[in-house]
Amino acid sequence: MQNQIPVTKLTNSKDGVSIPQIGYGVAALEKELLPNSIAAAIMEGYRMFDNAPFYGNETEVGVELRASGIPRDELFISTKLPNYCHAYKDAIAACERSLKTLGLDYLDMYMIHFPMPSLGLFCEAWSAMEKLYQDGKIRVLGISNFKEHHIKKILDMCTIKPMVNELEINPYHTQEPLRKYCQAEGIHVINWFPLGGPMSPLVPYPVEHFKILLDDPYLLALGEKYGKTSAQIALRWAIEHNMTPIPKSSNPGRIHQNRDIFDFKLEQEEIAKMDALNHDRRLGPDSDTFTDLQKP
Ligand code: A2P
Repeated sequence: MQNQIPVTKLTNSKDGVSIPQIGYGVAALEKELLPNSIAAAIMEGYRMFDNAPFYGNETEVGVELRASGIPRDELFISTKLPNYCHAYKDAIAACERSLKTLGLDYLDMYMIHFPMPSLGLFCEAWSAMEKLYQDGKIRVLGISNFKEHHIKKILDMCTIKPMVNELEINPYHTQEPLRKYCQAEGIHVINWFPLGGPMSPLVPYPVEHFKILLDDPYLLALGEKYGKTSAQIALRWAIEHNMTPIPKSSNPGRIHQNRDIFDFKLEQEEIAKMDALNHDRRLGPDSDTFTDLQKP
């Protein structure tokens, strides 16, 4: 297995920044398992670590990444602007706070965590993000959980276009029109819950309709064909659609497995069949109605 994870050049990055094709998600990473998990991820060649103040572990992740011995410019460390910090001054202060907590002097990527349309401040937040970028605090400017109509508002006012949008996407929730819209605008898509997310929904969901993505017979059959697991098939599907998946795992075997997806390709017909598994099975919040300010 090739240890180096391939990268994708970000279309909207004027500086030509590249992003790893798979990242390591630290949301829901168990605190007691965090040091060994980050060490295992580093050993397996992961260089992108996706964080947010809301995940409650910026300090610990920062400590482990700094202790890893990997040169800073080989790491791709990202975090997000909290929902309660969309006002200009609050956004600048929030970024400074994250830098301090992570123990860094710049972030590889900073994203507005949710658009929070009820606040009506995400364009103001974007202006603050642009200032942070101009001041050299951020290399990649991004949004997260933004729908097309939110993105259009940013595109109407921005001087720097969003370079990434991080969205809940997997074969049961493909968000295909939104993914294609982003990609047509040069906005690289990162997909969270790439393995289908937790075994039980985070938001109210009719339990009788709840299916576990990794138990899907089609993914299992493709796994059989390629000598891979259903998780690797789900991650490969994201790669085939030019996304960067950010699976969470605290299990060394699965951390290894999840990045071992660059030695095979799915056929077009298989990708289309996986697309057709979509039933809009969203497990995270709907960003149009989400009002949680997520104060720590
Ligand atoms: P664990 O940390 O014990 O590996 P998602 O990234 O979609 O949110 O999925 C994360 C969930 O999937 C976690 O419960 C994680 O558990 C589990 N998981 C991660 N990698 C794999 C894998 N390769 N096979 C099966 N389950 C996995």
